[in-house]
Amino acid sequence: MEGLQECIRIANDVEMPGFGLGLYKAKAGEEVYRAVRFALDAGYRHIDTATFYGNEKDVGLAIKDSRIPREEVFVATKLWPTDFARAGETFEKSLSLLGTGYVDLYMLHWPGTDKFLRYRTWDMVLDLREKGLIRAAGVSNFTADQLADLKEKTGEFPANDQVELHPWFQQRELRRFCGKNGIAITAWGPIFHGHLSEEPLMEEIGSHYGKTAAQATLRWHIQNGNAVIPKSVHQDRILSNADIFDFMLSQEDMQRIDALDGKRRFSWDSEKFDGNADKARKNITK
Ligand SMILES: NC(=O)c1ccc[n+]([C@@H]2O[C@H](COP(=O)([O-])OP(=O)(O)OC[C@H]3O[C@@H](n4cnc5c(N)ncnc54)[C@H](OP(=O)(O)O)[C@@H]3O)[C@@H](O)[C@H]2O)c1
Repeated sequence: MEGLQECIRIANDVEMPGFGLGLYKAKAGEEVYRAVRFALDAGYRHIDTATFYGNEKDVGLAIKDSRIPREEVFVATKLWPTDFARAGETFEKSLSLLGTGYVDLYMLHWPGTDKFLRYRTWDMVLDLREKGLIRAAGVSNFTADQLADLKEKTGEFPANDQVELHPWFQQRELRRFCGKNGIAITAWGPIFHGHLSEEPLMEEIGSHYGKTAAQATLRWHIQNGNAVIPKSVHQDRILSNADIFDFMLSQEDMQRIDALDGKRRFSWDSEKFDGNADKARKNITK
């Protein structure tokens, strides 16, 4: 991927811009609206939200006001596990809040612990695709075993798995599995989930190229073939985070970053997390 709007094919007829704006913990209202407008003005064409973030309405409004044709913006949103049992009405609400007519990528936000409900919900998501309400069906926070199980039970792999992925938690086995099976990987928490300043190597490497720690980290992702959705609500960061297509990390620097793997992960165990939102807010958002 060598440009902000360059796409990754995630399904037969669906291309996803490999660089997007993340919106977890971006406050509903003015903050999200402005961030999305800044990002679209800067050339971003992929916006990542979720029912859990509570900001779909502002995303939709900002896209509409941008006057960019709907088909040029890739909108991704997600279904939280405690909503699996009422997936149909939750999707309708998301779509109505977004007001975008359809969703480009709809994901199960976490696998949840009830497998049968997971399979049923996945079938429902595939049905939304048949009806033309979503363009691609994806998942998030699924392990390789959970992806394989979903395929075995329902006949279809997801187009995309959005997972925690950064230099401290590199998900090598999952990346290999997804690569082999044609599943695109999107990295959440790509710039250390808010802990970037705790990794001095990124600053050091970035400075060799006249770039920031965030830019060096995002460049590492791009050179590894990961789609990325860094979050910021600040115009200067929204701009600078995307300014990574004019340099290339050397193989030696890539290897130094590779050596950081295993230092820390932030997310829940995908086999155990049942979607309890209170627990999630307390623990995932720190
Ligand atoms: N599927 C899932 O379960 C899941 C979980 C978490 C996240 N996500 C998605 O992935 C997106 C990205 O992940 P994330 O938000 O967890 O983490 P992230 O993008 O790695 O980091 C975001 C944090 O870094 C700060 N930041 C942004 N640009 C910066 C820069 N240039 N220099 C220093 N700090 C910078 C942001 O603050 P400011 O906003 O103040 O700039 C924010 O605190 C989310 O927003 C969401 O859309 C998905």
